[in-house]
Formats: sequence, structure tokens, C-alpha cells
Amino acid sequence: MRLPIIAGNWKMNNTISESLTLIEEIKKHKLDDRVEALVCVPFTSLNEVKEALEGTEIKLGAQNIHWEENGAYTGEISPLMLKEIGIDYCIIGHSERRQYFHETDQTVNKKIKAALKHDIKPIVCVGETLEEREVGKEKEIVKEQVLKAFEGIDKEKIKDIVIAYEPIWAIGTGKTASSDDANQMCGFIRGIIKTEYGEESAENIRIQYGGSVKPETIGELMTKEHIDGALVGGASLNSLDFVKLVNH
Ligand code: PGA
Repeated sequence: MRLPIIAGNWKMNNTISESLTLIEEIKKHKLDDRVEALVCVPFTSLNEVKEALEGTEIKLGAQNIHWEENGAYTGEISPLMLKEIGIDYCIIGHSERRQYFHETDQTVNKKIKAALKHDIKPIVCVGETLEEREVGKEKEIVKEQVLKAFEGIDKEKIKDIVIAYEPIWAIGTGKTASSDDANQMCGFIRGIIKTEYGEESAENIRIQYGGSVKPETIGELMTKEHIDGALVGGASLNSLDFVKLVNH
């Protein structure tokens, strides 16, 4: 049995004080302990949110990481810096980073390896654009992203990785992939992991769906065989919605 994981991706939202207000609101509610709940907050809020989450089961994640431990990389944040804060997860290769900050499959691969080296669990994002889907290339694109992201990663590390399938056309647009389409792609990704790493790794790896997930849509998505949770942007900024997503 795979533990479902609901992750809030706050993106570039919330100052430190706003972050703490949101966490305090979430903490007023009882969260289902059969679901792993996680907030991925801006770098500037990580430390304070870590303290605010003490005594709760809610996990903490960053939204990006650099692959080097230190050096002349102005403006970047290293795995050592994140490790010291004590984060559990890090989103890697989100489509917004690929699109606006020119991240490539190669840098995604390096970042995954760096995170794993420091016991930070990567949430690796993959997904096709609308144009790619319209010409029927979505599987080809996603397969290439997965294979390149996982290049050279040891089999025993696979269980620590979460994959988030996020069709780019569904992110922040209010358009969700149908639960069947999402399930089909998540199953396809599980199949790639099976081919590359075998049955057990494929059974253990958690695969989330992301893209305009809302409290109203999570229930059906979570009934699907290959969908083990969601990576949620917009709806995770509202405490009640986040609680509803976790307690779906
Ligand atoms: P959204 O974002 O829920 O606002 O569509 C999802 C994401 O980008 O991870």
C-alpha cells in the first residue's frame, strides 16, 4: 500500500508572516493521518514554517534546489542549506521552472541526485504542453522526461522519489485532466519505472497528479489505481481547502 501524499505548492506566494498565519489556520484542524500532508513554501519562509510545524505531522518542502553544495552561484540555494533547516521534500523540475528559468532534463537530473544525497526527497515534475497533447505526443514527451530525470539513479533510491504528473495546460487554468486521463498517464509512468527498475520499485513509487486540483475534484482522482496524491498550487493557499484536500 502506498501512502497517499497531498502536497501544497505555494509557489511565489506568502511572506514569512503570511506563511505563519496560513500554517496556524491549518493547524486548527485535524488532518487525516492516513495521508501524508506537505507544504512546499518559499525559501524565505522555510525556517519559520519548520518551527511552526513542530509537533504536527505536516511535512515541509522547498520548491527548488541547486545541485552543488556551495560555490559561485549567485542567488542559488544549496542542498546543505536546505538540509540544515530540516526539510523533508523538494519540488524539482516544476514546469514553471522549466518554462521561465530554462531548467532542462539534465539540470533536473543533477538536482534529484543532489537532493537524494542529502536525504531530501525529490518531487519530480513531468508533463506535456497543450500543443504536445494535441498532436498525440504526450506519452513520448513524458517518457523522455522521466527517463532523463532518472538517469543514473540507484534502484534503492527510487522509493524516496515522488513523481508529479502535471499536464502544463491544466496548471492554474482551472482545466483538470479527467481522472481517467490522469490515471492513464500515471499508470504509463509506473510502467516506465517497472521496465527500468522492476516490479517492486514500480509498486512502491508514489505518483501524484497536479493541475487545478480542488477539494471538489480530489475525491474522484484519489479513487484511481495509479494516482497516489496531488500536487496543488492555487487551492493550497486557502487553509480550509488544503485541509479538505488532505481529508478528502
Ligand atoms: P494549480 O498548480 O493547482 O494552481 O494548478 C499546480 C502546480 O503547479 O503544482
